Amino acid sequence: MAEVFKALGEKDPRQIAGYRLAAKLGSGGMGKVYLSYTPAGRPVAIKVVRPDLSEDPEFRGRFRREVAAAKRVHGLYTAPVIDAETEGDTPWLATTYVPGPSLQSVVTDHGPLPVPTVVLLIAGMAEALAAVHEAGIVHRDFKPSNVLLAADGPRVIDFGISRAADASSLTGSGMTIGTPAFMAPEQAEATEITAPTDIFVLGQVACFAASGAPAFGDGTPHGVLYRVVHKEPDLSGVPGELRELIGRCLAKEAADRPTPRRSSPCAGPRPPVPNCAARRTGCPPWSLPTSVSAARAPHRPVSPRTTRR
Ligand SMILES: Nc1ncnc2c1ncn2[C@@H]1O[C@H](COP(=O)(O)OP(=O)(O)O)[C@@H](O)[C@H]1O
Ligand SMILES: [Mg+2]
Repeated sequence: MAEVFKALGEKDPRQIAGYRLAAKLGSGGMGKVYLSYTPAGRPVAIKVVRPDLSEDPEFRGRFRREVAAAKRVHGLYTAPVIDAETEGDTPWLATTYVPGPSLQSVVTDHGPLPVPTVVLLIAGMAEALAAVHEAGIVHRDFKPSNVLLAADGPRVIDFGISRAADASSLTGSGMTIGTPAFMAPEQAEATEITAPTDIFVLGQVACFAASGAPAFGDGTPHGVLYRVVHKEPDLSGVPGELRELIGRCLAKEAADRPTPRRSSPCAGPRPPVPNCAARRTGCPPWSLPTSVSAARAPHRPVSPRTTRR
């Protein structure tokens, strides 16, 4: 398992707008992410935008708009955006730190999750997407590395922000946006991206969590995208009780996909997954297999005291 907290390098800042940086969490297409602390000591994840992106005016405009929209998202299964700088030399975005591994690393390291866990995972992700869509944004980069598994349920991160990096000048420079295994037909075909786009990807993420394999296979990006557009998903590894719900999310036509609320296995008087845990008990018991729970320990934030200088 990769180390969660990496030591800050010489070039990494020590402080940003009063937040103390303690460790590097990783880096993605948009920049580096740091474990940081508020002055009062609460942990946050600060995403610092890459210098070349910060200099692009088109990026700036989109970043400003998407951050404003992301701040309006108030969900129980989304990591809230708590602060951001969109105007200074180095734009950044701070979200609540979620102490848990990503769905990507859990499935890679431990294999598919048991059905009751997947049921509540889908329900939480559906509620997260409902909150994102109600704020008027589409996630656009929903994928297992953007779903973190906390002690009390999943948290969806990075909603809307990838749109900022969609600017043509950047994609033209060879930067690729999106992960083929977690893209909808309309993303593959570069047609209109709307809220149902996220629902298709919810189906792909759920298939990956339940079976350990992507719904449209592995291989070259072109091969995967061809199957996303033209072929039916392979749900043979998905347990029977989840297949119908996941299959409906994966409808090729956006209009045929359920809304976030109807894509929850626990929603409505007659949930699409019969006898789902939440319906039986009225109180979803989120639990992870013991081996996976143990994988949460290395994500406990390092003590801010040890990083004081
Ligand atoms: N709010 C957060 N809480 C905990 N870890 C986070 C948070 N936001 C991002 N991370 C971690 O920071 C790392 C880099 O994230 P990111 O730049 O979004 O790249 P990607 O999603 O492509 O892995 C990832 O390992 C991610 O799990
Ligand atoms: Mg991410």
